[in-house]
Amino acid sequence: MRDHLVFYLNGNRQAVRGPQAAMTVTDYLRDSCTPRLTGTKVACAEGDCGACTVLVGRLNAEQNQLEYQTIDACIAFVYQLDRSHVITVEGLAEAGLLTDVQRAMVDCHGSQCGFCTPGFVMALHGLAEEKCEAGATDAMTDDDMRLGLSGNLCRCTGYAQILDAGRQAGTNQGSVGDLFDAKSILADLSKLDSVPVHVNPGSGDATTNGAVVADALPEIFLPSTTDDLLARRAERPTSTLVAGATDLGVQHNHGKIRPTDILVTGGVDELDVLEVEDSALVIGAAVSWSRIESFVRDRIPEYHHILTRFGSPQVRHAGTLIGNLANASPIADSIPFHYVAGSTLEVGSVSGRRQIPIEDFYLGYKKLDLKPDEVILAVRTPLPTENQRLKLYKISRRRDMDISTVTAAFLLEIEDDAIVSARVATGGVGPTVVRLPKAEASLTGQPLTETTMREAGLIARDEITPITDVRGSADYRWQLVENLFVKCFHDLSSLQPVEV
Ligand SMILES: Cc1cc2nc3c(=O)[nH]c(=O)nc-3n(C[C@H](O)[C@H](O)[C@H](O)COP(=O)(O)OP(=O)(O)OC[C@H]3O[C@@H](n4cnc5c(N)ncnc54)[C@H](O)[C@@H]3O)c2cc1C
Ligand code: FES
Ligand code: FES
Repeated sequence: MRDHLVFYLNGNRQAVRGPQAAMTVTDYLRDSCTPRLTGTKVACAEGDCGACTVLVGRLNAEQNQLEYQTIDACIAFVYQLDRSHVITVEGLAEAGLLTDVQRAMVDCHGSQCGFCTPGFVMALHGLAEEKCEAGATDAMTDDDMRLGLSGNLCRCTGYAQILDAGRQAGTNQGSVGDLFDAKSILADLSKLDSVPVHVNPGSGDATTNGAVVADALPEIFLPSTTDDLLARRAERPTSTLVAGATDLGVQHNHGKIRPTDILVTGGVDELDVLEVEDSALVIGAAVSWSRIESFVRDRIPEYHHILTRFGSPQVRHAGTLIGNLANASPIADSIPFHYVAGSTLEVGSVSGRRQIPIEDFYLGYKKLDLKPDEVILAVRTPLPTENQRLKLYKISRRRDMDISTVTAAFLLEIEDDAIVSARVATGGVGPTVVRLPKAEASLTGQPLTETTMREAGLIARDEITPITDVRGSADYRWQLVENLFVKCFHDLSSLQPVEV
């Protein structure tokens, strides 16, 4: 058992034992590490603006290298950095020599007040890193940048100059890891045994984005095996399970949670499963959204398409499917797909494992069929078959980086232009995501026509109970759900998906 965290920060080894282990990464960088690194900014403290973007390099054991990805440091915790290499904006310029991205930001006038600039520089580096890993040597396309920078806000420069900088910088600059002694960092991180880590920060002061909070220090446990995880969960059933912390980090910064025990799932290799087994997609609890995004690109393109609108790259690099399912928001973007695809959750405890069909998992608003000592281990989802047509929808007030007003999933099995079976689910219209059995029954056996879908949309209105909130009125949601049936018909009938 290790009693401290080990990670590298801009090439320097950090061994963290005390209260620092429980801090957000931005608090650690800006107020606690030596020297203080204030280049990483905090503006929103909830993952929305990207001012706090840093790169985190994690071991890819198969390729024996570190893979760098951006995260929002304001909603990440120091205990999540174990066995990684963190690069902040201060780590980029070598002896005053700017990187290509930094030089391009200067040349193209990509910065006015400069508050967002470190975040944009890190995000552009993250994008170049991804292109390099994929073996692409061409310049960043505007589409790459539009998606890759969707988690970064600039309030004064305007985006044209920042996009110019991205075009100028290109992707031929090599990995940021090469700015450091990559070999010895890799060797050191690789030899840190996969043993559990237990950090007891003791009493003292923690900080929440600068504000001191006394005596709020949780015990932190990083299991290395599923057995460790389940044993600790059995001992401490009130511990807070942490996957990517993209939900929990926001709640922490809003003062809504003060965990006394932290149990981190991220380092458990057995939960890092992402595979197709017996025509089913199996996703373990430690797998991030960005890995799922790449994996389903060709296997379930419609799921991939909806994931490009899930948060931002920073959020997808950290957040997980299991965290999304366990958070149990009725507007969680992933749940409707998993309802119609018929996913099953595998949950486990020291007493054994059980499989739960996803629709039985949600008992009410944020109420789960999960015992205090149980942990979700994986989700198994049958791949859509050749005859099944899948359409997924996320309706939000803004295209990128917005919370859904309504979500919907349609899985129609079609033979000879007739609907043999229909599964439809929608979110944002009640306390949980719901299936629409009456609308499904009205579709079954009917030809796939606009009239059939329009009639089913009218029936669906009676199966939902939307409320009015800041994102839309109940009437608007009723109308959206009705209209989505017609839209689904047109999308399935045309070759190109129609943007909502
Ligand atoms: C800026 C921003 C944008 C976002 N955009 C979207 C979006 O577009 N669509 C969307 O649906 N969501 C969005 N989210 C919400 C969030 O990113 C997702 O819900 C994400 O999938 C959560 O995963 P996580 O690993 O970060 O969960 P965490 O924050 O680590 O955990 C979430 C919950 O799951 C529990 N949990 C974690 N692991 C387990 C386990 N193995 N067993 C049981 N319980 C567990 C935790 O205790 C916690 O209650 C956004 C969040 C932010 C900050
Ligand atoms: S400060 Fe806005 S995303 Fe972190
Ligand atoms: S330069 Fe001021 S916020 Fe971007």
